[in-house]
Amino acid sequence: MAVIAVPKEGAPGEKRVAMVPEVAQRLVKAGNEVRIQSGAGDAAFYPDAQYQAVGAKIVADLKTLLPGATVVTKVQPPTPAETSLIDASSIVVAQMNATRNIESVRALQQRGITAFALELLPRITRAQSMDVLSSQATIAGYRAVLVAAQEAPKLLPMLTTAAGTIRPATVLVLGAGVAGLMAIATAKRLGAVVQGYDVRRAAGEQVRSLGAKFLELPINAEGTGGYARELTPEEKAMESAMVNKAVAAADIVITTANIPGKKAPRLIAKEVVATMKPGAVILDMAAEGGGNCELTQPGQRVVANGVVILGPLNLPADIPFHASETFSKNILSFLGLLIDKTGKLITPFSDEILVASLLTQGGEVKNAMVKGVMGGTP
Ligand code: NAI
Repeated sequence: MAVIAVPKEGAPGEKRVAMVPEVAQRLVKAGNEVRIQSGAGDAAFYPDAQYQAVGAKIVADLKTLLPGATVVTKVQPPTPAETSLIDASSIVVAQMNATRNIESVRALQQRGITAFALELLPRITRAQSMDVLSSQATIAGYRAVLVAAQEAPKLLPMLTTAAGTIRPATVLVLGAGVAGLMAIATAKRLGAVVQGYDVRRAAGEQVRSLGAKFLELPINAEGTGGYARELTPEEKAMESAMVNKAVAAADIVITTANIPGKKAPRLIAKEVVATMKPGAVILDMAAEGGGNCELTQPGQRVVANGVVILGPLNLPADIPFHASETFSKNILSFLGLLIDKTGKLITPFSDEILVASLLTQGGEVKNAMVKGVMGGTP
């Protein structure tokens, strides 16, 4: 029997929980003990009583929750207080955002804990059911459009009324990965005229299949593993000319461009913001990674020349019920690689998905990219 412990998230604004009652029930039915810190699901509308009803144990504090756990699972990386209470023999599974949370990684490393960072999962078919980046980016892309629409002084759909005809708003989505495609689909559903852009040519087909126009450059910047590569200086100049024109004409711009492990590409310079219409809105989803717009301030609302620039950092937490549901289904699927039907750990961790997402083990940082960001310190 495995013991699975779920702390209450403590990060400011974090309303998600790593396990919803439905998933707790499946683990309990399989013979495991599920411990939930009291109130862990409250902000996502999963009260303690729902966990108790499916056989999970509600535990008052971290000192009772963490010791003896086989697996500790969280949405956010464990805090130093949590890490100090987790047994060295326990396994931590969370979205670590490791390259930006070096202190948390070091704390796990120093305690000799085995930790898996879900953002490091390979984006292969077999890992799709565990892919928290995709499940949360889908929700974030939807939320981004609602937040931007709320800021906009215009309606999104075309309306023909007795008082005249209102033209639809133009929504431009830069970066058509998981978040961008969901933003495109959501803006279309709200009735806007939608354009999408991505450096990967393959994204064009997906953008068009959602009924949006794809802005196309005569280049293909598909890199390895389905991600984009960095552009050359000449390619960047071509991209800027095309993107700047589309940005100037848009009512809402949602930016999602991202290259894993690198600073977010700069797509909108401040001079370009100055060419936008007053009342236009930029929602920069890449704010945490440095932003796709030069004027973005992470977590802030900035107004420049009448243009509102938003840099929200945790959009999935604004839709905590479904964000938690999908996150915890990802966790359940991942636990299937770690724990066998009798509740025993499946060791050694040889599955390629586990190898790729292994962050720390035996006092070492195992992931090469994270190790590089930490300055090569083992
Ligand atoms: P993804 O990796 O699936 O998509 C990023 C897309 O950007 C890729 O399609 C890539 O080809 C494209 N791209 C890269 N360079 C580009 C360039 N120069 N021009 C145009 N497109 C370019 O990532 P995903 O999951 O869609 O996430 C997108 C961004 O949103 C990431 O920065 C992620 O950290 C962020 N995010 C933010 C959240 C928030 O609450 N603010 C929540 C979830 C994700």
